[in-house]
Amino acid sequence: MRTVYLYHLLYLLLLVVHPSSVSSWKRDEFRNCNQTPFCKRARSRKPGSCALIATDVTIADGDLTAKLISKNPSQEDQEPIKPLILTLSAYQDGILRLKIDEDPTLDPPKKRFEVPDVIVPEFLNKKLWLQRVSKETIYDDSEYSSVMYLSDGYEAVLRHDPFEVFVREKGGKRVLSLNSHGLFDFEQLRVKNEEEDWEERFKGHTDTRPYGPQSISFDVSFYGADFVYGIPEHATSLALNPTRGPEVEDSEPYRLFNLDVFEYIHDSPFGIYGSIPFMISHGKARGTSGFFWLNAAEMQIDVLGSGWNGESSILLPSDQNRIDTLWMSEAGVVDAFFFVGPWPKDIVRQYTSVTGTLALPQLFATAYHQCRWNYRDEEDVENVDSKFDEHDIPYDVLWLDIEHTDGKKYFTWDRVLFPNPEEMQKKLDAKGRHMVTIVDPHLKRDESYYLHKEATEKGYYVKDATGKDFDGWCWPGSSSYPDMLNPEIRSWWAEKFSYKNYVGSTPSLYIWNDMNEPSVFNGPEVTMPRDALHYGGVEHRELHNAYGYYFHMATADGLVRRGDGKDRPFVLSRAFFPGSQRYGAVWTGDNSADWDHLRVSVPMILTLGLTGISFSGADVGGFFGNPEPELLVRWYQLGAYYPFFRGHAHHDTKRREPWLFGERNTELMREAIHIRYMLLPYFYTLFREANMSGIPVVRPLWMEFPADEATFSNDEAFMVGNSLLVQGVYTEGAKHASVYLPGGQSWYDLRTGTVCKGGATHKVEVSESVPSFQRAGTIIPRKDRFRRSSTQMANDPYTLVIALNTSQAAEGELYVDDGKSFEFEKGAYIHRRFVFSDGKLTSSSMSQSFHGKSQFSSDCIVERIILLGLSPGAKSALIEPANREVEIGLGPLHLRGGRSPPVLTIRKPNVRITDDWTIKTL
Ligand code: NOJ
Repeated sequence: MRTVYLYHLLYLLLLVVHPSSVSSWKRDEFRNCNQTPFCKRARSRKPGSCALIATDVTIADGDLTAKLISKNPSQEDQEPIKPLILTLSAYQDGILRLKIDEDPTLDPPKKRFEVPDVIVPEFLNKKLWLQRVSKETIYDDSEYSSVMYLSDGYEAVLRHDPFEVFVREKGGKRVLSLNSHGLFDFEQLRVKNEEEDWEERFKGHTDTRPYGPQSISFDVSFYGADFVYGIPEHATSLALNPTRGPEVEDSEPYRLFNLDVFEYIHDSPFGIYGSIPFMISHGKARGTSGFFWLNAAEMQIDVLGSGWNGESSILLPSDQNRIDTLWMSEAGVVDAFFFVGPWPKDIVRQYTSVTGTLALPQLFATAYHQCRWNYRDEEDVENVDSKFDEHDIPYDVLWLDIEHTDGKKYFTWDRVLFPNPEEMQKKLDAKGRHMVTIVDPHLKRDESYYLHKEATEKGYYVKDATGKDFDGWCWPGSSSYPDMLNPEIRSWWAEKFSYKNYVGSTPSLYIWNDMNEPSVFNGPEVTMPRDALHYGGVEHRELHNAYGYYFHMATADGLVRRGDGKDRPFVLSRAFFPGSQRYGAVWTGDNSADWDHLRVSVPMILTLGLTGISFSGADVGGFFGNPEPELLVRWYQLGAYYPFFRGHAHHDTKRREPWLFGERNTELMREAIHIRYMLLPYFYTLFREANMSGIPVVRPLWMEFPADEATFSNDEAFMVGNSLLVQGVYTEGAKHASVYLPGGQSWYDLRTGTVCKGGATHKVEVSESVPSFQRAGTIIPRKDRFRRSSTQMANDPYTLVIALNTSQAAEGELYVDDGKSFEFEKGAYIHRRFVFSDGKLTSSSMSQSFHGKSQFSSDCIVERIILLGLSPGAKSALIEPANREVEIGLGPLHLRGGRSPPVLTIRKPNVRITDDWTIKTL
């Protein structure tokens, strides 16, 4: 044991002192499926091995309930298999919820963990109270199946023998099913036999597993599916590749286990920082469907390639495009949701109706963030800040990493390096800028550290298997971790963010939660032992994937409380779980400065958006290593379209602020950042859309073009909202890129206004930017004047860019509020719809009526309207009701940049964004 400890100390030292000198990804540090007994057991089961049948079907409390019992009587020498309790519930919008657990009346040794605090209360109110269940014989079954209403178009079927659950179109085709291949298995908790050894060992760590095997596994099939997507977080393609099957090389399943993986590689099914067990299928035949398993234990998911079940005799209704998957979890219960779609946007709406939609961020948080491990001291901060101004580059937030603290004790300052933190923040604030400091969950075990003292005295730390405060290694050395499952501890934690408690903090300071998987340098797989204990006797194995979620939740709550509930929080988290979207942003962790990581950032961010987490980004420039200037420029050009846009770098890398690579590169990076600032009104409108409906800010092309097969596996390009298509440039020295523009309408180059045909692949010149196009038929609101920060742009006028389609029509939206408070929830916002048709642009209000509870007013005007694709002829425009005529003439597409091409422009219409008006071309 001692040698192991020394080894880890050595590893830690290497990590801390020379992180980049340690060669890349240590595969052996992490368990593979074969080294994970529950995964190995589940993978070795044969189709049809489930012997459960459903009996005693009744309706109770508006749900269908049944018992699952074994068809085969147990052998004399075996313990009898106890019945499981199954519940099926229907919710509005065709959502089916399936729960399977042990029967509490049969005295199981322990209550299995059900994850609280994820499902939003409003969802529970959407339950449909079942009145009746009908019986039906399906196939040649000797037993009836029970059929229940789900929505007008869909019904759920519980097949009794063999046990199977599926959702189908009313009386018709299947959409999703569970246990169609008989792989369902539920290891019930039981008393240990004397000769059994339940301990599991890995790399010198022993997991005592006091409750023994308790895993659950089952197969889920998606019908009419060409591809499956989702289940982040993995650095891999958007459309998930099969992990098993005759054509598949030996592959690991997709692992969901929150881990701090040092130098993760760019194409792998291994688990990294966050976990969302939500999979989406999409196909031309049927559209979109989704399956979500609310479970916080380690999960492994196989996508089964066709022919995987070659030797099985199970026959399913013929379906050319069925995708089978195998879900395996170490612990917990079955609490699963089936979503019927049928379209991509329906799926994210349905999923976020269960787990919540994105919290609307403050406007500043949607702008550019400048980070580095570390900005050394106050002078460094001041220099970096003033260089942005000198180089005419806007930015909104300056970040301080762990070195700003006194000995990695969070909520403290290194007073030599940062003697006047308040003043430093105030100086930034004067320019409308903000600061973010890092606060991690590991608390230094230092008697003189007030937080440690308090947490110890109050018994607030996670316990080890023996009941002592768990002690692990992280940045400060010996550390303990507050037990965030306990609401009282979360509340205690939240209070630490008050201005009084967090000495040196000011209202313009926000927070970064890192290492919250949690990362434990000397723990098994660099995390907390599974037999550590939480509130209520919950084992860490049951909760693991949600630890970071709770930490994020408590921190965000702290910021809300700090501002008396008036200031929207901003908290960036590395670990995440379903529902994290309600607490802030996430980023993709420690990527590397290479082209492959630039490329994989797109499918990673798109996948996060599909699974509710709309506010995400990757470290621009790559965290590890030194990007060549060309790569850095390409990263800024792409990163400008990430929902969360932040440059960040490891402390061993060379400085890489945007002005350090020669005038030409500075110019290109400046332009990339300017594009983001110019599009902030559009982004903010999209954030509000995500906040209201769950539909992500950046979207796979197939979300907007669900019938276009050419888009299904395209993860080099993406949509920002429904109006912009962007594609990264992922190779060195590229002069051109091939860009597929979907749909029947044209597209307009964002920089040049050049029109390109839809439904075709174009060769696009990329020497100055990455390809970006506005879709014909859309209107994008912009702000074209540049200031130091987004905050300073608040009163600036708008430009509307109208890209007309073949019917000379277009529409778009603009959402505006104070960018800061929660007043928008009471109606204090402006939400306009712009429609151009019959030569007329109309602005009308989309706001819901809140009966004047709270109002937001703005004197902002529209100063330019750009008309792309307008048929020739119009010379002027009439503004109504003002009855004023203004000129239409040629004007620059962009106010900045000498090379901006001339485009048809309605000059100075000067209409207010709050008002209803019409502008008629004459
Ligand atoms: C790991 C994080 O992923 C990285 O972004 C950060 O700079 C370091 N921890 C130091 O805090």
